[in-house]
Amino acid sequence: MEKTPKVIVSNPSKLEPSDGAKRAAKLRSTSNDMVAAGRPQNLGQLLPQVEEAVHQKRPEWTPTTWQDYPIKQDVVYDDETKVEAALEKLESLPPLVHPAEIERLKQKLSDAAEGKAFLLQGGDCAELFDYCNEDRIDSQLKVLLQMSLVLIWGSKLPVIRMGRMAGQYAKPRSKLTEMIDGNEIPSFRGDNINGFDIKSRTPDPARLVSSYFHAAATINHVRSQLANGFADLRRPLDWDLSHVQKDHVRERYQEVVDRITEGLAFMKTIGADKSADITSVDFFTAHEALLLEYEQTLTRNLRDPATNIKKWYNTSAHFVWIGDRTRQIDGAHVEFFRGLANPIGIKVGPSMEAKELVELLDIVDPNYETGRVTLITRYGGAKIRDLLPQHIKAVRASGHKVVWVSDPCHGNTKVSPVTKFKTRYFDDIATEIRLALEIHKECGSVLNGMHLELTGDAVTECIGGSQALEDKDLVIRYDTVCDPRLSVSQSLDIAFLVSDWFQGNKQTEV
Ligand code: PEP
Ligand code: CO
Repeated sequence: MEKTPKVIVSNPSKLEPSDGAKRAAKLRSTSNDMVAAGRPQNLGQLLPQVEEAVHQKRPEWTPTTWQDYPIKQDVVYDDETKVEAALEKLESLPPLVHPAEIERLKQKLSDAAEGKAFLLQGGDCAELFDYCNEDRIDSQLKVLLQMSLVLIWGSKLPVIRMGRMAGQYAKPRSKLTEMIDGNEIPSFRGDNINGFDIKSRTPDPARLVSSYFHAAATINHVRSQLANGFADLRRPLDWDLSHVQKDHVRERYQEVVDRITEGLAFMKTIGADKSADITSVDFFTAHEALLLEYEQTLTRNLRDPATNIKKWYNTSAHFVWIGDRTRQIDGAHVEFFRGLANPIGIKVGPSMEAKELVELLDIVDPNYETGRVTLITRYGGAKIRDLLPQHIKAVRASGHKVVWVSDPCHGNTKVSPVTKFKTRYFDDIATEIRLALEIHKECGSVLNGMHLELTGDAVTECIGGSQALEDKDLVIRYDTVCDPRLSVSQSLDIAFLVSDWFQGNKQTEV
């Protein structure tokens, strides 16, 4: 008699959120700290255990210890169970980046801190889910790649390319609400919190999971492009310089592009173009890790393949940074960041005291690892002279070996006098980056990188540059939903300017 095979049907195991995720979900539906949101300041009344932890040695870190600390820029959701469900789902999803990649970046940043590499960070202020499409990702990759070639040519250093992309979905805001047509509505806080459309401004926990999938799709496209020849430097890149208004500037740019092209052609002729380095390049992802409940779910205890030691990697990106509004020593963000094995960034704005900066480094870099921390200074062109030298001096005396990066965008945001748009003047940005280079040199230090808000598209959000955009031009293509970004040509202008500075060749006044 024939035996009927027995079919065993089992249901997939049910997802269960960790206790830490449950607690985070609960906090998100009860907290109302946002009223205090603003520039860094002490967080006021602290819980007794936090008071102790802030001022003495902190207890052992876990991905959830931040929950005991006061938090800025908090998000409050209506429905705790939906937050719990979202966090539970996120906890079950695979890492977005691999520990080996994070470790490779760490090594490169340690080189940068020693002045042996230059870091280029760039991308949108607020990345939108809608930006997750082939054209936009490609144009972003292309502008960063071209800028990196110009910088390599000028600085003679390897350039570490890092996009503010595949996760730059949460924005700190100085005002929680805005007036639209006479109505006060919640501000847009980034696609992983609420929507830019005025009908979608209520924080929606489903966006947390959506963030993961958009980041995954973005990083997947970046990886597939880079693995399949997008950055093959033997291919001619199209460098359209027709927009450049001044003849002598265009000639200078053309000269640099010709030299780069010749260099690559020469390598091809002598057969030195066979190495993997020229057909693909490393590219890293970065974002401001603002939404800690999201970041917590992707922080995993994984093995460093080189040492086999388990570490807590935040696998939402290779590199994450703390914004200038959430860097309080006694706050949740600093607590969360201190335990991550990833290299981390800290934005350093004008209100940062030198002493406070060192205290912060003592907390997040207790082992004095070269290049663990990238300090991204963003003072504004008018303030950098007063502030940067004292920060350089204090950090040097502290023994922490950091990567010094200039963000010449965030301290130079203005309202345009004619169109009243939120804008930035190219000349202010150029001034801050030039001064950063000069001041580091004067102080016996080196600027190790730059951090820019930019796009690979021909937007009209910042005034000036080689294309000579004017205030009245802002209306032509003002696409940003947050801060104004450098257009593709203004981004290249900055790369040429920095490259020229390294060459000791300062005549290119754009
Ligand atoms: C940003 O980088 O978009 C940002 C908000 O910057 P900062 O924290 O320096 O203000
Ligand atoms: Co911004």
